[in-house]
Amino acid sequence: MRILVTGGSGYIGSHTTLQLIAAGHEVVIADNFSRSKPSVLGRLESLSGVPIKHHVIDLTDQDETDRLFAQGAFDAVIHFAGLKAVGESVAMPLEYYANNLGSTLSVLAAMRAHGVKKLVFSSSATVYGEDAPAPMREPFPTSATNPYGWTKVMQEQMLRDLGVADPEMRIALLRYFNPVGAHQSGTIGEDPHGVPNNLMPLVAQVAVGRRAGLQVFGTDYPTPDGTARRDYLHVEDLAAGHVAALKKLGETQEPVSTWNLGTGRPTSVREMVSAFAKASGREIPTVDAPRRPGDIADSYADPAKAQAELGWVATRTIDDMCADTWRWQSQNPDGFPEA
Ligand code: WQD
Repeated sequence: MRILVTGGSGYIGSHTTLQLIAAGHEVVIADNFSRSKPSVLGRLESLSGVPIKHHVIDLTDQDETDRLFAQGAFDAVIHFAGLKAVGESVAMPLEYYANNLGSTLSVLAAMRAHGVKKLVFSSSATVYGEDAPAPMREPFPTSATNPYGWTKVMQEQMLRDLGVADPEMRIALLRYFNPVGAHQSGTIGEDPHGVPNNLMPLVAQVAVGRRAGLQVFGTDYPTPDGTARRDYLHVEDLAAGHVAALKKLGETQEPVSTWNLGTGRPTSVREMVSAFAKASGREIPTVDAPRRPGDIADSYADPAKAQAELGWVATRTIDDMCADTWRWQSQNPDGFPEA
C-alpha cells in the first residue's frame, strides 16, 4: 500500500518507515522538521535502499494538507506528527491544542475529501491517567493530568466519534508505553529536541559524556527498589506493531480498534540505569531527587489484546534496548547532523 507517514522523520516515525518499506509498502513522509532534522532522510534511504518521497508541510494548514492528499493517492495514513513534551505542554497549552488537534483535524478532513479510510494513530499510555492500576487494559477509562495528555485523550475521542459517523473508517488507536532503543545499525535513533524529558535519552547522554549525571526522581515509591517502574518497549518492536495494526485494518470490521503496545514487564529507574551501565561499560552517576509532579509508581501494559488480535508480541529485552541505544548514542554523540 501507499502510506502517508506524518512525522515520519521523528524517532518512532523513522523506525516505522523502515519496517513499512521492508514489508513491501511505499512510504511518503510529511514532516515540518520542527522536532526532527532533515538529515534523517538520507540515512533512511541508505538503510531502506529506496528513495523516500517527503514533503515539508504544516499539517495544521488545511489547504496545504488537502493538496498533499489530492496528488497523493494514499491507501492509508500513519499519523505520528505532534508535540509530545509533557512539561512544554504545561507551559504552552494553546500551542499544543492548536498543533496536535489542528493537524489531526486537517488530516482527517483531507482523508474524507479523498476517500482515505485507513488510519493508524499514535496514542499513548498517558491516556490512562494517574489513577489507573497497572497492568493497564484497553477498556480502562481515559484521562490526563497535562495538556499533552489531554490532546491524546481528545484525539482518541475525535476518532471514536468519527468511527460512529463513518463506519467505513478503519482506525487503530495504538497506545505506546515507553519507547526506547534504536535501529541495530546505530545510524538512526532517538535525538530529542533540546533538553530531553525522557529517562533513556538522559541516561545515554550521561554515558556518552554530554551530561554529568542523572537525577532519580523519587526513591520512595511503593516498588521493590523504591524507584518508579515503566514498561519500556524497543522502538523496533513498536514499529512492528504499526505494520501489524495496518494489516489488521484490512481485515477487521470494527471502525475503531484500540491496542496497547507494551511488553507487560515493568522496569524501575535503578534497574534501567544499571542495565545501561552494563551495556555501555560507562559509569552513570545518579543523585536522588524528589518525585516529579504527575509521575506515578507503576505504568505497564497488559499486552494480551494486541497479541490475540494482531499476533504482535514485543521480543527485545531491556539489555537489547540498552545495547542498541548505546550503539546509536556512541556513534552519534550529538545526534543527527544539523544539515
Ligand atoms: C520514566 C521514569 C521518571 C527522567 C513520558 C510521558 C508519556 C510518554 C513517555 C509520550 C519516570 C524517571 C525520568 C529523569 C528520572 N511520552 N526519570 N529521572 O514519564 O513514563 O512518560 O514519556 O507519549 O506521555 O509522560 O517517561 O522517560 O519521562 O520517565 O528518574 O531525569 O524515569 O520519574 O519514573 P514517563 P519518562
